[in-house]
Amino acid sequence: MSAAVDEYGVFGHPVAHSFSPFIHGFFARATGQQMSYRAYDVAPEEFSARVKDFFGGGGRGLNITLPHKIAAVETAQELTARAAHAAAVNTLALQDDNVVLGDNTDGAGLVRDLCDNLRIVITQRRLLVLGAGGATRGVLAPILALEPAIVVIANRTPERAEALAAAFADLGVTQGVGFAHVGDTPFDLIINATSASLSGDIPPIPAGALGPETVCYDLAYGRSAMAFVRWAKHSGCRRAVQGLGMLVEQAAESFRLWRGVRPETAPVIAALKERVGSV
Ligand code: ATR
Repeated sequence: MSAAVDEYGVFGHPVAHSFSPFIHGFFARATGQQMSYRAYDVAPEEFSARVKDFFGGGGRGLNITLPHKIAAVETAQELTARAAHAAAVNTLALQDDNVVLGDNTDGAGLVRDLCDNLRIVITQRRLLVLGAGGATRGVLAPILALEPAIVVIANRTPERAEALAAAFADLGVTQGVGFAHVGDTPFDLIINATSASLSGDIPPIPAGALGPETVCYDLAYGRSAMAFVRWAKHSGCRRAVQGLGMLVEQAAESFRLWRGVRPETAPVIAALKERVGSV
């Protein structure tokens, strides 16, 4: 008799186009793990009941995607420090003591992609982060842990950038500004964490903030990253990258939390690039 397969999945709304089942299926085959992984479309009002049902029914772990990442903070019974800092959860894991742990692997996934895959140096470098919403909050702590010279957070609503910079000031040098006050000195790395691309918009960054050595990175991928990546390329930066690597790396961090083994990510990133195409 074969043992029951451990069940995993992703809760989102909508979730039909999620790459997570493809990524985790790939990881499971590559590492020989006996597990299943499905996408579940879960409406906000049923989120907490569905999480309880999933784990009550023997489920082992979940990825949490939009719009549930903040609600999952309350649903988790325990939080990792990085999830508490992010004030958002993208991974739930049933631990041996039956406690559901909430973690956030987004920031670690970004740092892995930047440092290991793209070989970008963060330490002592000047960083500009565009946007002051949940996506920015989710990645600030792991970035500041690498001790950049400064992280300037620029936002359409300057007060949100100022508040976020103040909230993370104990972790490193941060500054919150409106786009008009970003300055004219080129940054080493510009990270787009706004949702402006969804409507094809580019945040109004002063031209001097981007130079020939600047690397530009969009946390989004595919069509959602297109406007920013194209703008960055045309503006003459060194390199402009969409966030596919981050997507795969955050998944690998979740997989390691669940299964105790970190899968290789390069083959999955290559396979996804084929699917999504360059932007
Ligand atoms: P997320 O969780 O994706 O960060 P969010 O919390 O709604 O979502 O934040 C969206 C971010 O994109 C915000 O920083 C928002 O700026 P405001 O705080 O001023 O709203 C930014 N954003 C959205 N559309 C934008 C646009 N067209 N131009 C510039 N910034 C935009």
